[in-house]
Amino acid sequence: MTKPFGQTDIAALVARQRPGLSLEQAFYAAPEIFAADTARIFHQDWQLAGHISEIPEAGDYLLFEVMGESVIVVRSETGAVQAHANVCRHRGSRLCIEPRGNVRRFTCPYHAWAYNLDGSLFHARQLDPEHDRDALALKPVAVELFEGLIYVSLARTPTRFDELRAELTPHVRPFGLERTRIAHRRSYPVRANWKLLVENYNECYHCTAAHPEFARSHVIHMTPDRSAPLNAELKARSAAVGASADTIDRIGSQAPAQSPDYSYNRYALFEGYQTGSESGEPLAPLLGDLTGYDGGASDVYVSVLNPMLIYCDHAVLYRFIPVDLHNSIQEIIWLVHEDAVEGRDYDRDRLTWLWDVTTEADKRIIEANQEGIGSRYYEPGPLVAMESFTRRFLDAYLSRLV
Ligand code: FES
Ligand code: FE
Repeated sequence: MTKPFGQTDIAALVARQRPGLSLEQAFYAAPEIFAADTARIFHQDWQLAGHISEIPEAGDYLLFEVMGESVIVVRSETGAVQAHANVCRHRGSRLCIEPRGNVRRFTCPYHAWAYNLDGSLFHARQLDPEHDRDALALKPVAVELFEGLIYVSLARTPTRFDELRAELTPHVRPFGLERTRIAHRRSYPVRANWKLLVENYNECYHCTAAHPEFARSHVIHMTPDRSAPLNAELKARSAAVGASADTIDRIGSQAPAQSPDYSYNRYALFEGYQTGSESGEPLAPLLGDLTGYDGGASDVYVSVLNPMLIYCDHAVLYRFIPVDLHNSIQEIIWLVHEDAVEGRDYDRDRLTWLWDVTTEADKRIIEANQEGIGSRYYEPGPLVAMESFTRRFLDAYLSRLV
């Protein structure tokens, strides 16, 4: 882009975008678009900050950081999980520098104002008594727990979790995500705009060519006429082990007003695959209340930025983290049953093999995608039926920009 453009130009760009085509180059190249993405998506939407097993004791905290903002997620004295802006109310210093830790209070490294775990001001040396100390508490940030997963939103008025929780809980609860722990997490730096990570995650049109390891075990990359019979057979197997094979779709325009998007879908693995492993054999102890392996995987969204895939013996969580216009991080988090012991109950390399090799491949194809989109020869091209989720993401994204 040679000249800066403002909101009017963004509105014109959105209006010009033809439905059913990939986005115009400017959406991946203009700093103004990236600024709008930050303000309208990343500083608004619910995003996965962690798992409750990361902060089990009072005073345990972790930082959630996105595009210049930092949030302290802490287990308070009462056991509740709270979130505060990581900004001192004196002159604005960051309070917590270390990404994780355990504290009795938050003490500012600058002039040592101290805050209780609930964010209230505990001590401010020489502060004039005329100041209202209650008004100098840390600024609260919205936080929600869903099945042990911690979500944070920086929005002034965030969407509500009530409907999501009411509708998704019966389907996700059997996997006992609250009773899991993080077996491994890995960040994959990707030289691409964040939208290309999300676009890629939401379609499996590329899976046959790019992911032979995934494609030989998961039916999701097949056309519906071929996958539907296998998914129909799965229903009875899922019911037998206590898993839900229902479908819930509240993504995009179907979402209830004031609620984050959400969905649940369980699909089949090919015969011989009990879980997402190289051999098809189990990888770890069964999750939650499951009584066996149904040979399925649940695709779950808690808002579009927070997908997860739940097998019978582990879950894989995805985070799409923007760094700048042309750089992002794909973070993958593997959860296993909280009692599972590495080396005894699971092997970390085997557990992480599939989504490590798949994410490395995604990184390569996404980076090649970004390079091509930067070319003077790029023009938006048509999406196919297997890219319908990507299309829905793009439609929802465009509606957020104007
Ligand atoms: Fe925190 Fe001064 S900025 S105590
Ligand atoms: Fe992929």
